[in-house]
Amino acid sequence: MPPEVSAHQPDRCPMDFSFNEEQLMIQDVARRIAQEKIAPTAAHFDQTGEFPSENIRILGENGLMGIEVPSEYGGAGMDPVSYVLAMIEIAEADCAHSTIVSVNNSLFCNGILKFGREDQKQKYVRAIAEGKAVGAFALTEPQSGSDATAMRCRAVKQADGSFVVNGKKSWITSGPVADYIVLFAMTDPDKGAKGITAFMIDTSKPGFHRGKTEPKMGIRASATCEIEFADYVVPAEEVLGKEGEGFKVAMSVLDAGRIGIASQAVGLAKAAYKAALAYVQERKSFGQPIGSFQMIQAKIADMKCRLDAAEILTLRAAWAKQESEKTGGRFSTEAAVAKLTASEAAMFITHAALQIHGGMGYSKEMPLERYFRDAKITEIYEGTSEIQRLVIARNETGLR
Ligand code: CAA
Repeated sequence: MPPEVSAHQPDRCPMDFSFNEEQLMIQDVARRIAQEKIAPTAAHFDQTGEFPSENIRILGENGLMGIEVPSEYGGAGMDPVSYVLAMIEIAEADCAHSTIVSVNNSLFCNGILKFGREDQKQKYVRAIAEGKAVGAFALTEPQSGSDATAMRCRAVKQADGSFVVNGKKSWITSGPVADYIVLFAMTDPDKGAKGITAFMIDTSKPGFHRGKTEPKMGIRASATCEIEFADYVVPAEEVLGKEGEGFKVAMSVLDAGRIGIASQAVGLAKAAYKAALAYVQERKSFGQPIGSFQMIQAKIADMKCRLDAAEILTLRAAWAKQESEKTGGRFSTEAAVAKLTASEAAMFITHAALQIHGGMGYSKEMPLERYFRDAKITEIYEGTSEIQRLVIARNETGLR
């Protein structure tokens, strides 16, 4: 991979710490729904593994399924910083809900807005942005996760320009309920990364099948399954972007997706941190609040440092994405730095918060054990921590 042309300008102050009125407004809307509708139902959806359809509909009605989608396609028309602020609020209430929001916003709408034609934007983005349909992103396969170019799902071009798709995709977030999917399939296996094409899939059409639902450790309300294509016909006009450019579509969409996961990790870490902070002030041991003990104080200080670093780096990544929309540069490094830092912070903070709560942290009567289970996925999906390190190091050194 050649060194990326970064959107980040090192000679300029990279951040403005104040939020504008619109950003504060969407943060407020997200916080209200998160606190009133999502937080009170989070434990129920975690226990049952049901998909929270009604909450998703409410989020969609309030513009939170298409935060960066322009209003002409049914979205809120906000900027990447607004997206981060809203995601943090939703994830603080429940990580699983924020997974669904993140996939609809960053992996589905974002890719079609960037690479789709006008008719594709009208057809697919509007329904998702308004919360009337659910989207998904199908890249991973049973044998290809980090090594995405090793995919076996094939789309064979026909004489009339259409494609016939056969193959399996796995770990598809929102797969059990998705109406539309952005699919990546191999159209020319001899060309490797340059032989992959992106397609728009309508799950109501013949040849599309859903497979087993994954019994997951965390984010249990976010439904995940395998999907299978058996002679599914995609008309030529449902190619997203250009034939053979699917890998670039996937990588570029994942850059934006990684900012969503970083925001999710920040929101989740905030929830765990706030719970720990309240507990150390109220819980007494040896005649004093446990927060007066140095071992607990050290934990609180370490949690606070990691939380703040994660949040600031995530906002920087959103800012870099915004700049890239003007300059055309990439923001891969900023997104990878944010995702890596925030997901590792979420693991550290949820672990420490659970430890601080002792036996109560281990009980399902409190949300700490759910936070801990939910945090792990942020180090895995949309590129593992190892892949984020690889992306950062390749971009920094120019070496592979
Ligand atoms: N933007 C645009 N183009 C990019 C890009 C980016 N961020 N990164 C790479 N490319 C381009 C390269 O420039 C190159 O094109 P040229 O040859 O024209 O220069 C082409 O893509 C191939 O790049 P590489 O040679 O670097 O590809 P690679 O095979 O070495 O893979 C990788 C790179 C970083 C390891 C990549 O495969 C990767 O990110 N893997 C992880 C996949 C992943 O994140 N999966 C998550 C699944 S989705 C998910 O989890 C969704 C969910 O449901 C929540």
